[in-house]
Amino acid sequence: MLLYTPGRLLRATLALILVSPLVHGAKNVTNVTPTGTTRPYDPSPFNLIGTISACNETDTDGPLAGGTITVDGMVITVPKNLLVTLPSISVAWPELFDGETPSLPLLGSVSWEATVFGNIVQGQPIAGLIYITQESTQILQGFITEIDYTTGHFFVNNEIEAVLNDPLGQYGPVYTDYPLWTVDAQNPSVTSSTGFPLCIPRNSTDADCPLTNRPLDGDGFYLTTLHVTFGNPATVAPGEPDPRIMAPLVVGDYITFSGLKVPGGLLAVYSLSANLGIYTAAGTKPAYISPATATYAIQVADPTVEAGEVRFNPQ
Ligand SMILES: *[C@@H]1O[C@H](CO)[C@@H](O)[C@H](O)[C@H]1NC(C)=O
Ligand SMILES: *[C@@H]1O[C@H](CO)[C@@H](O)[C@H](O)[C@H]1NC(C)=O
Ligand SMILES: *[C@@H]1O[C@H](CO)[C@@H](O)[C@H](O)[C@H]1NC(C)=O
Repeated sequence: MLLYTPGRLLRATLALILVSPLVHGAKNVTNVTPTGTTRPYDPSPFNLIGTISACNETDTDGPLAGGTITVDGMVITVPKNLLVTLPSISVAWPELFDGETPSLPLLGSVSWEATVFGNIVQGQPIAGLIYITQESTQILQGFITEIDYTTGHFFVNNEIEAVLNDPLGQYGPVYTDYPLWTVDAQNPSVTSSTGFPLCIPRNSTDADCPLTNRPLDGDGFYLTTLHVTFGNPATVAPGEPDPRIMAPLVVGDYITFSGLKVPGGLLAVYSLSANLGIYTAAGTKPAYISPATATYAIQVADPTVEAGEVRFNPQ
């Protein structure tokens, strides 16, 4: 009779493996305790991405004071003078607080995330760079189905009620409730996919956001599948599309956007790209560019050297 079926053979092999350490006199590992007092790498760099559970400030240290940020349970020291990068702007740590309360709308019920680079020094994580945003992976898409010119609120797919978070009113009606999470008023973050700045008209005759910058089709409807080159600004006649002025968003535009969920069910948008191909005339100014990615490097004299992030042990 055959004794070793495949299953028995496997069990026999496992038993041999389990038993063999004792056979060979392996050490009792539970008795091994660390010796010495020097940490192997101190300071040691870290780079983490996680959910903010709490943060506070050391309010006795002036407008550039530090504090702590707790990311997924890890308490990280925020040193004095550190600037925090938000989606469009950088701010000093105390600017993130209204009194003792962090200005992170809906903290606790939506995910606020931090990317932190720093060093662990004598066991204590200390931040060097901090990036904070709400739901960092949020990228929404849909058609604009309604625009309310009095409030500047617009609806996407009849479901999402959004507003440009625009405290300076650069791209439309002023909205000041959450200025930290603003659109970028200098490098436009409200654009066509070709980089042309876009806006929400403040009224039907808004000269800074004229409907004349949205060409019509033969039936008098705004073209929403636009691929158009505006004329040379030197020869643009009144009422013609003018590349020096923003183009309005209209109902029917297909947009990709990110924003902040704020109380009241509103999305305060800091970044918006509409599927519109608006180009400016070749060889004229202004010209708008829309970089998708940028890679930076440090130039060193020796062309064969590649400098990566390194773990540095000073001993
Ligand atoms: C292994 O260490 C534990 C904990 O100290 C001890 O209870 C046990 O007797 C040790 N076993 C052997 C084989 O030394
Ligand atoms: C800030 O939070 C940390 C971590 O929870 C805590 O140890 C510290 O005492 C707090 N500081 C202030 C000023 O509240
Ligand atoms: C329309 O909005 C612009 C920009 O805010 C303003 O200058 C203009 O007076 C407004 N026109 C009317 C009729 O309200």
